[in-house]
Amino acid sequence: MKTIIGNWKSHKTNKETEEYFEIFSKKLSNSITKDKKVIISPAFTSLKTAFDLVKKYNLPIELASQNISSFPQGAYTGEIAATQVKEIATHCIIGHSERKRYLKENTQQIENKIKEARDAGLKIVLCVQNEHEDTSNEVDYIAYEPPSAIGSGEPDDPKHIEKVCSYIHEKAPKPTILYGGSVDEKNVKEFLAVEHISGFLIGGASLDPQSFINLIQKC
Ligand code: PGA
Repeated sequence: MKTIIGNWKSHKTNKETEEYFEIFSKKLSNSITKDKKVIISPAFTSLKTAFDLVKKYNLPIELASQNISSFPQGAYTGEIAATQVKEIATHCIIGHSERKRYLKENTQQIENKIKEARDAGLKIVLCVQNEHEDTSNEVDYIAYEPPSAIGSGEPDDPKHIEKVCSYIHEKAPKPTILYGGSVDEKNVKEFLAVEHISGFLIGGASLDPQSFINLIQKC
C-alpha cells in the first residue's frame, strides 16, 4: 500500500481548487487508487472547499492540513487548532522544512503540535530533513525531505535515501516512511523500489491534476 500526499503549499484560490477537482474527479478512477492512499493537502483557505468537493464527487481520497497550531482552541489570533482541522481533514503535516526555514518553527513547537494533533485524533505526517532529527514522538508517517531536494528538480540519490530511511526505520519502526523532494511522474519509479519507502510527499508535481494522476498511476 503506497501513500501519496499532494502538498499544495501556498498555491490555489478557492476557484482554482474547484477547477482542479473538476478535472481530478473526471480522471481519477478506483482502479488508479486501488491499494493506494491518496491525500491532498490544500491551503487552509481552500481546505473546506476541497472537503465539500471530495464529498460531492465521492472521491476515494483524504485531506490533510499543511500545519496546525501548537496551541489548543483559544485566544491565539491567526492560528488554527487541531480540533478545528479535524472537522475537515483526517491528516496534518507537521514540521515541514519550509516552516522551519521561513517561520523558524522549532522542536518545542513541533512537539506541541504533535501532541495537539494526536489528542484531536488527526493522523500525523512528520517531516524530517535528515536521519538525526527527533523521531521519538508517536506519529503515523515520517516524511524524509532533504531541503536541497525540495522544489529544486534535484531529488536525493535513491541509495542515499535508502541509507537515511533504514536508519530512521531502525529508530522508529512503527511509522510509515515517505520520501519527498522533486518527485514527479517521470522519476517516481526510481524511488518506488527503495527499501522502507512506502510513499511520497509531492509538492510541485501535485499542482496539476493530470500530472498528479499520472504520478499516482505509476505508484
Ligand atoms: P517538491 O516539494 O515536490 O516541490 O520538491 C516537496 C515538499 O516540499 O513536500
